[in-house]
Amino acid sequence: MIFVNEESREFHLQNSNSSYIFNVLKNGSLGHLYYGKKIKHRDSFSHFFKAPKEGVGIIAHIKEDSAFSLEYYKQEYPSYGSTDFRKPAIKILQENGSRITGFQYDSYKILKGKPLLKGLPSSYVENEDEASTLEIKLVDEVISCNLYLTYTVYEGRSVITRNARVENFGSEKLVIENLMSMSIDFPDYDFDMLHLSGAWGRERAVKERSLEKGCQYIDSTRGASSAHQNPFVALKRKDTTEHSGEIYGFSLVYSGNFLAHIEVDHFDATRLTMGINPFDFSWELDGGQEFQTPEVIMVYSNNGINEMSGTFHKLLKERVARGSWRDKERPVLINNWEATYFYFNEEKLVEIAKAAAPLGFELFVLDDGWFGNRNKDNSSLGDWFVDKNKLPNGLKSLSDKIKQEGMKLGLWFEPEMISEDSELFRAHPNWVLGVENRNLSLGRNQYILDLSRKEVRDYIIEIVSERLTEGNISYVKWDMNRNMTEIPKKDTAHKYILGLYEILEEITKRFPHVLFESCASGGGRFDTGMLYYMPQTWASDNTDACERLKIQYGTSIVYPISSIGAHVSDVPNHQTARITSLDMRNKVAFFGSFGYELDITKFSEEMKVEVKKNIEFYKENRKLLQFGDFIRLHSPFEENRVSWMSVASDKSEAIIGYYEILSETNPSYNKKIILKGLDEDILYSVNGEYEAYGDELMNVGIVFEQPDRYFSYESATRDFRGEIIRLTRVK
Ligand code: DGJ
Repeated sequence: MIFVNEESREFHLQNSNSSYIFNVLKNGSLGHLYYGKKIKHRDSFSHFFKAPKEGVGIIAHIKEDSAFSLEYYKQEYPSYGSTDFRKPAIKILQENGSRITGFQYDSYKILKGKPLLKGLPSSYVENEDEASTLEIKLVDEVISCNLYLTYTVYEGRSVITRNARVENFGSEKLVIENLMSMSIDFPDYDFDMLHLSGAWGRERAVKERSLEKGCQYIDSTRGASSAHQNPFVALKRKDTTEHSGEIYGFSLVYSGNFLAHIEVDHFDATRLTMGINPFDFSWELDGGQEFQTPEVIMVYSNNGINEMSGTFHKLLKERVARGSWRDKERPVLINNWEATYFYFNEEKLVEIAKAAAPLGFELFVLDDGWFGNRNKDNSSLGDWFVDKNKLPNGLKSLSDKIKQEGMKLGLWFEPEMISEDSELFRAHPNWVLGVENRNLSLGRNQYILDLSRKEVRDYIIEIVSERLTEGNISYVKWDMNRNMTEIPKKDTAHKYILGLYEILEEITKRFPHVLFESCASGGGRFDTGMLYYMPQTWASDNTDACERLKIQYGTSIVYPISSIGAHVSDVPNHQTARITSLDMRNKVAFFGSFGYELDITKFSEEMKVEVKKNIEFYKENRKLLQFGDFIRLHSPFEENRVSWMSVASDKSEAIIGYYEILSETNPSYNKKIILKGLDEDILYSVNGEYEAYGDELMNVGIVFEQPDRYFSYESATRDFRGEIIRLTRVK
């Protein structure tokens, strides 16, 4: 719902749980009044802010009023210059060298539904009643430039989205040096900043820190959203827990360089801005041109981190992910990467497929190494032609053989990259992204293709399409294994991402039945932007069950379980050398889009029986595991145990995963988990062993018995234990 107080020039965006209010200040710029728990609409909110009578100390003010200084005001989209000294949301360089802008409120427009962003991914609606959109127009007459701030309020979700767009309607060349997607000023700084940080192999660890006076930020300058900082940040109250208290979450729908910047000023106000990273960025805007920022999805909750995550999950599952696979149960796959790496031939692949099919696998994924002359990671990227030494009969024959076993074929690509040792590089050395008079750094022995060039985009679209058609491919793993180094120009990194989005838009349109999984050396580009094109992402190359608890837990802060690629791999684990039981590996991977990546032909009959049983269990519960409401209970970042659960939307059933990382000597005898999200009055069967009402399970909890192997000496096998508990409705 959008209310406009015409007289006091106030805008009130209100949804199921939150209110967002801003106004026009007397200098014509926008002020921010409130964001938080839903409040009633009033004809005026002017009592929300009392300006000081006049400035004290060294305060800059406008000529006409010594008490009017933007320093005092909470602002909605601050610009550079004038009387605010905090970090701006917009900075535009003009031909005379000035960076001062003065955007004045002009008008507003309310639209039903939600328009899509040109060339960029965003959340969307399926019918106009799902949301309404407010577009505010501001004008800077001096530079003939319009600024549009767009807000969409989703009905029935605690979600508001924002983006900004500038339009040069003059003849002067303008250079955008900074144009953030959003900015908001909170009146205090009683917050912790929550974000997801990491690196390759340990992506999206949950980090919290108290806000301090001055600036704090997370960002990426790598040309990808990165494994190092995820384009997400939340501000939570100090006493907010998983299940209580206020939290504001902000997710940028973008896959490139980003910045989430938080500044606490001298009046204790907190300014959060988020958008494309202004570091090493600028964009020339000729007369008649416009620039669109990516979208930020804002979620408010006053019931803790879990509720915020749940709101993100639902929106990302239902109104960011697209295509025929959006709501469909994802297939159980077997991937050959950790089974064979580059060393396979058709015979070996078919052998794996023959062993896998009877166990219930539905999709066989052929990973890296099927093309060009790729026997190591130092060649052939770009040469997307089947290596006849490995697959003499081509993709079609392999696909047919896999089909005969009752499975579909999936294929790995890394289309954005090029190896120096490749036919493509020999033919088009100038397609590489780099700076002419500088040496080019390598990353995994490869260079990056310049996706801002149309001929490069066309090549990728055509060559990938040919292979997908030829091989009757049902699934694509779209990998990207290096970050940008020698970036030629300040607009390159953004142009690259726009080029990537254009390619993905076209390919996903051409192959609507194909399930796409995004990947970047594991989870190096796990973001809402990629999710728009590909409903799932390979979470991490680290498949160790124990480490995966943290990775999947952290990922779930924003991203739905259906989007998290999770596989059972071999032991000792290829990354950590840790040995965990097959049982534990399955129970962790269940909470994701499930698969295996190991050489199943090496399994004993006994192990195959176990695999089959696990796949059967997963398939029976797949809808609940992939699409249920996911709730975190115990955090691996805080305890030696982890638990989480998935509840059906009608609360009639649930699955709980409970894991103990290291075994404990003489553990407390009354270990329990208090469940959440059930119906108090439903009587549930607990694993078919006993019955309990929802209120018991959510107050008394589930109590675990002490392991009876307590005095045995097989301690190694007692580390890394997992239990799955199934709740089904009795009445
Ligand atoms: C990185 C991915 O994360 C792996 O799963 C695998 O596909 C390799 N690339 C292949 O080169």
